[in-house]
Amino acid sequence: MTHAFDFPTGPDMHNNAITEADNLLGQYIPLHYHFQMLEDEARMSGFKAALDYMVPTGGTVLDLGSGTGVLSFLAAQKAGRVYSVERQPELIECAKELLIENGCGDKVQLELADARDYLPPEPVDVVVCEMLHSALLREKQLEVIQTFKQHYREKFGDRLPLFIPDATILGVEPICADFSFQGYHAPISFFEDPGLLSGRYRSLGAVTPYCILEYQADFPTRLSYDGPLTMTESGRFNALRFVTKSLLAINLKTGDSIDWMNLNLVLPIKKPLDVSAGERFHVRFSYEAGGEIQSLKNSIEVARER
Ligand SMILES: C[S@@+](CC[C@H](N)C(=O)[O-])C[C@H]1O[C@@H](n2cnc3c(N)ncnc32)[C@H](O)[C@@H]1O
Repeated sequence: MTHAFDFPTGPDMHNNAITEADNLLGQYIPLHYHFQMLEDEARMSGFKAALDYMVPTGGTVLDLGSGTGVLSFLAAQKAGRVYSVERQPELIECAKELLIENGCGDKVQLELADARDYLPPEPVDVVVCEMLHSALLREKQLEVIQTFKQHYREKFGDRLPLFIPDATILGVEPICADFSFQGYHAPISFFEDPGLLSGRYRSLGAVTPYCILEYQADFPTRLSYDGPLTMTESGRFNALRFVTKSLLAINLKTGDSIDWMNLNLVLPIKKPLDVSAGERFHVRFSYEAGGEIQSLKNSIEVARER
């Protein structure tokens, strides 16, 4: 989802399977935050178009992490049956009511379960999963899909369903950020809407892709970069911008794709440097997919190439 906020630690009154660590790592998303997700036009129109394109008429879909049930509803516009899994009991209750109200109570089979363990009773055509966070931190998109694929193959054989997203591309860009607020210098991490880039932050070089994840292939558990970033502008290099773009669906006939970008994550680097256009820097970082933002921030190393 597009997170402009860090989720608070939620009380786990219903489900013992949800550990405190999971809560801290963005696994507990209270209902009131789902409004922002429903309101996010780029997210919603992207998933709607991808489901419309990918789901065969009368086909079967699995929605991992149903939330309010909105993606199950969109899938049900074409599918004959939708299996939908969510592990927050309050969200299951909410989705059940909303799906009935929206006329697809019969088509969507909701289940309270951990998506890492759940398997549908029959093979499905399409799996949709939106546990996407900037830089694939905090939420467990990769772990959920990876374990799903393993269990699915064991039960149904090697042919996997199609996935929405089809691929996720992660990139990194050197920037010069103005961290001064009314004279108060505060170089702290923040999220930025890719559609509304602020004048406070200036790009110093191109976005370099550091990971391309194809959902049909196996995923790594660690996401890393160990390579150069070349400055195309001069300035004070004091932060890295992490860009997360998902190709929700790809039309191989036309070459078009339906894309969605998470909020960019901007992380200040430890030792800012004055740089000139044309200079090369060696940048290194490594973090666990689904891990904390701080784990990525702490791993960043930047050195001027000689
Ligand atoms: C970013 S929200 C997306 C919700 C909904 N699919 C949508 O697009 O609006 C991710 C959802 O996945 C659920 N979730 C996270 N981890 C899960 C897991 N391991 N098993 C089942 N649901 C999970 C969360 O509770 C949350 O409702």
